[in-house]
Amino acid sequence: MSIQALGYLGIGTGKLDDWTNYATNWLGMQAVDRGAGVRAFRMDDRKQRLVIDSSMPEGQRYFGWEVADARALDALAARLEAAGVAVKREPGTLADQRFVSGLISFADPSGNRLEAFHGAQIADEPFRPGRSISGFRTGPLGMGHAVLMVTSIEPALAFYRDLLGFRISDFIRKPITAYFLHANPRHHSVALFEAPHTGMHHLMVELYSFDDVGQGYDIAQGEKDRIVATLGRHPNDLVTSFYMHTPSDILVEYGWGGVEVDDATWQPEEMTSVASFWGHHGLFDAMGPDGAPPMAAPDAIRAPLQVMEGNFHRMSGVCPWWDAMRR
Ligand SMILES: [Fe+2]
Repeated sequence: MSIQALGYLGIGTGKLDDWTNYATNWLGMQAVDRGAGVRAFRMDDRKQRLVIDSSMPEGQRYFGWEVADARALDALAARLEAAGVAVKREPGTLADQRFVSGLISFADPSGNRLEAFHGAQIADEPFRPGRSISGFRTGPLGMGHAVLMVTSIEPALAFYRDLLGFRISDFIRKPITAYFLHANPRHHSVALFEAPHTGMHHLMVELYSFDDVGQGYDIAQGEKDRIVATLGRHPNDLVTSFYMHTPSDILVEYGWGGVEVDDATWQPEEMTSVASFWGHHGLFDAMGPDGAPPMAAPDAIRAPLQVMEGNFHRMSGVCPWWDAMRR
C-alpha cells in the first residue's frame, strides 16, 4: 500500500495574522518562522504540518500524502502515470520548502492539488504547543483527516481507493452519498461527500486529552458565530468533537477518542445515517448551500469510549446496573 497518512496541509490565504492567532491560541499549534508571506505550524516532532501561504490564491490548497520512502514514491508515480494521471516530479527547492526529502504532485479528479512525499524532517526543538494542550494524536496516524466535497463520487472513489490505495472504512448511499477511507489505523484520513460543488469541508485534528477539546470548546464559545457544530459524537469513527470556522473557508473539527481500524478484522459497513449519537447540531447546515437532508438517528446510539493506556482510570464496580450488564 502506498499512501500512509495525511502528512501536511497547505492553505492559500492572505489572512496570515488571523491564522497565526487561530492556530496557536485556539488549536494549540506552534508557529514557526518561515519568512514573509508564509506561516507554518507544528503539531508534533515534525518541522511543520499546517502551512498558510499568502502567495497562493485564496481557497487554493495542497494536501501532502506520505509514503514510506523514495521507492514507494516512484512506484506511486508510475501507477498514476499508467492510469493516465499527469505527475510532476517536484524539484529539490520545493522539497526544501516542504521540509521533506522528495515529492511529486498531481491532481485528483476534482482538481485538488495532491502531493505525495517521503522523508519528512524532524525538528531539533521539542514541540511547544501554542496553548496548554496535552498534544495532537499524530505519528503513524498522520495529522488528522480531510473531508472533501466532490460532485461525482465514482471517479473520486476510484482515484483514492484504486490508485492511491485507501481502504473503505464505511460508507453511506442514502440519503447522502459518502465514503470514509483509511490509510492507517485512523478511521478515515480522507472522506468523500457527494455535493453540488467541489471543495474542502474540514480538517480534523485529534487531541490526546478530552479536556483539550473541552477547553478548546470554551475558547471557541467566547466568540460569537465561531462554532459551526456543537460538541457531539460521531457514530462511525467514535470521535467526540466540535466544528468551528477558521479564518479561511474550511472548518476545523477538533476531536478526541477516535476508533482504530485494523485491516485484518475490519469489515466496511453501509451506514443508514451519519447522524451523530448526540450533538453536532448545525453540522449539516454547513455542508453546502443546499444543506443536506435531515437524518434519522442511528440504531445504536452509544459505544465504548476509545482511550489510550494511561489516559483513563478504571472505576470500581459500584453501579448495580453496570455490574449486571457486565455479568
Ligand atoms: Fe470529520
